[in-house]
Amino acid sequence: MFIAPDSLLADAVQQINNRCAKRRYTSTPINQQVLAQLDVLISTVNQCQQNFKAMRLSEAGNLLSPLFVQLIRGATNVIVFEVLKENRPLVDIQIGCLGELLVLQMTKLGLGTVWLGSDKFSFSSSEIKKRMGSQNSIPICIPFGYPVDAKVDLKKRKSMKDIAPGWTGTEEAFQIINRAPSAVNKQPYQFQLKQNRIHITPKDKSTNEYMSNWLDSGIAAAHAVLAMNLKQVTVTKNEVIIE
Ligand SMILES: Cc1cc2nc3c(=O)[nH]c(=O)nc-3n(C[C@H](O)[C@H](O)[C@H](O)COP(=O)(O)O)c2cc1C
Repeated sequence: MFIAPDSLLADAVQQINNRCAKRRYTSTPINQQVLAQLDVLISTVNQCQQNFKAMRLSEAGNLLSPLFVQLIRGATNVIVFEVLKENRPLVDIQIGCLGELLVLQMTKLGLGTVWLGSDKFSFSSSEIKKRMGSQNSIPICIPFGYPVDAKVDLKKRKSMKDIAPGWTGTEEAFQIINRAPSAVNKQPYQFQLKQNRIHITPKDKSTNEYMSNWLDSGIAAAHAVLAMNLKQVTVTKNEVIIE
């Protein structure tokens, strides 16, 4: 179980429709005050749990794969997530949920972001480990910067009958949760409202890989927290409960 910290929740719901994956960044250096605010948010993420550590790396363009550098231009700043305790699937959910709340706070700071999960294809976890002197898993990272194109492209999502059959909450709450990003936009889970609790069930419950349905479910959990003003997130072997 963990509690989403207030400073990560503040104004985050208003950012949901201001965010989309950004894959091109300008060479403008990031404002020092913005970086200082970001560092405070990152320490909040690290203080509210002990299973992973988020870090901000600069001059980190070389940690992205050459193919990726062609696909995604100009990213030199990257947030990386280092797993400290292999506490599965709790750590997957914590990285997803707290990482997405961080992403929404970064959106508020005027930064573009993109979740990156394809190790070796999109980024090199072994290069990141080398740079950090770490032996731990680095399953995911988030390049960020000032986007070349500020336009927000809201990608199509699943319909209520597919992803939340029998949803009894408001349409607005549904839309907030349904806007959560996921790897290849797959949204690999379903969600339901039961007695004021939101239950998110990943389609595939295996925890072999870090880039699993659990990570995407954690990202959706961040949106569930915001959709109904909830705080507490509990993870079982089968689902995530937000209350
Ligand atoms: C866990 C995760 C991993 C992702 N990995 C990649 C990636 O390796 N390469 C990439 O270009 N985009 C990646 N994305 C971005 C998704 O493709 C994008 O979020 C999704 O298509 C929804 O679009 P939106 O973020 O604009 O709403 C990833 C997203 C998530 C949540």
